[in-house]
Amino acid sequence: MTQVGIFFGTDTGNTRKVAKWIHKALNDEQVAKPININRVSLDDLMGYDVLILGTPTLGDGELPGLDAQAETESWQEFVDQHMDDADFSGKKIAMFGLGDQMGYADEFVDALGELYDIFADAGATMIGSWPSAGYEFTSSGALDDESKEFVGLVIDQDNQADLTPERINQWVEQIKPELGL
Ligand SMILES: Cc1cc2nc3c(=O)[nH]c(=O)nc-3n(C[C@H](O)[C@H](O)[C@H](O)COP(=O)(O)O)c2cc1C
Repeated sequence: MTQVGIFFGTDTGNTRKVAKWIHKALNDEQVAKPININRVSLDDLMGYDVLILGTPTLGDGELPGLDAQAETESWQEFVDQHMDDADFSGKKIAMFGLGDQMGYADEFVDALGELYDIFADAGATMIGSWPSAGYEFTSSGALDDESKEFVGLVIDQDNQADLTPERINQWVEQIKPELGL
């Protein structure tokens, strides 16, 4: 039986909300309830065959965490503490990221790209890329150089919240078979 874990970082709660909506859309008892990354250890992630990981971009295109003036520890601290020699080979990972394409057009969802690279380098099989059509921005660290797609689902609650339910539903339908659900 596939076990799917959902983990997120957040500052003001948008990414938690999106994680909950993704959990609801997956609608499967094999998918655990979303948990804040600041409450878990590496072993908690390792307990799952499949992971869905979410992050906002804060600061200057950064992962959430104290460096980016987030209110609590978050992804940055988890990465600093656990990811140097973590081995995620054999794990399947899909990612989602939140950002603001109007306010931060030059570093739109950069942290999604950063987190993706960290887990890809740790050996995980990455799935769940997403078209960049429908977003307006100048530059993004979450774009795949070759395909020009985002490396995961991109959600903009600041400017396109009305599109979020449809984007989540479409992405969930896309990844479900790949997750073995
Ligand atoms: C101080 C600050 C810095 C931000 N920097 C970026 C950024 O560099 N790139 C981006 O795409 N969005 C940026 N954002 C937008 C957030 O990613 C967006 O508002 C997101 O929904 C916040 O998610 P959260 O509520 O889970 O923390 C920034 C927001 C704030 C408040």
